[in-house]
Order: sequence, then structure tokens, then C-alpha cells
Amino acid sequence: MERKEFLKKSLALCGLSLIPAAVIESCSKSSSTAPTNVNFTLDLTVAANNALNSVGGSLNANGVIVICTGPSAYTALSASCTHEGCTVNYDKASTHLICPCHGGVFSNTGAVVSGPPPSALTKYTVTKSGNVLTVKS
Ligand code: FES
Repeated sequence: MERKEFLKKSLALCGLSLIPAAVIESCSKSSSTAPTNVNFTLDLTVAANNALNSVGGSLNANGVIVICTGPSAYTALSASCTHEGCTVNYDKASTHLICPCHGGVFSNTGAVVSGPPPSALTKYTVTKSGNVLTVKS
């Protein structure tokens, strides 16, 4: 093989090996996409929101998990894991939010309990007026 041909093939191989590395790099650097400018209401008389009428009930609305933590007490947290952005799920039994991707666990205040998440879930304010919850940034 001539020098010119060797260099051409070597560069081609290098190019091929760099592409997957770039793809892998971009996948591993994804991050949380916590909703911003949150401002929505949930009518507790609507059947779709009925889970919030009992302690331990929760629902995911607009990328926010709203949890009924006690009689007329509510918490709202971003559903986006702070590790790589997977959607977390609320576990009523443990009162933790669990990420299905790498096992990150958050308390119902949003604090990291265990796993790879680097920071707490974004928390939103929840106010109740009559049968309507208002969730805001
Ligand atoms: S994306 Fe949630 S623990 Fe990795």
C-alpha cells in the first residue's frame, strides 16, 4: 500500500470512529428539562384530577408531578430527573419519586435521596382555592 493510500484509509477509519463517540457524548450530556414559567390550574371536581382528592394521590400535568401530601396539602415538583431528564414517577408507598432510567430517588420535597441525580427536582408553589389548585413557578 502506498503512503498516500494508507493515509487516506487511516483518516477514513478515524472519521468513522469519531462519529459514534460524538453521538455517545451528546447522549450522555442530556440534562433535566424542568418546566419554566409554570402557571396552570387543576379543578379537583374534574374526574381526571380525582387522584389529588386523597392523601398519597398524584398526577403528572404539564411536566409537573402534583402530589397530595396531606389533607389540603400539596407539593408540585418537576417530573424531569436532574440526572439525564427521564420522567420520574411518584411512589405512594415510599413517598419518593423514582427515576426509571438509572434508579435516582428523590424525596417528596424534591431532595435527592440516592442515585446519580446531581441536584433536587425543581419545586413549584401550589395554592388551593375552593376546589381549584393553582401551580406556579
Ligand atoms: S435520568 Fe434519572 S437517574 Fe439518570
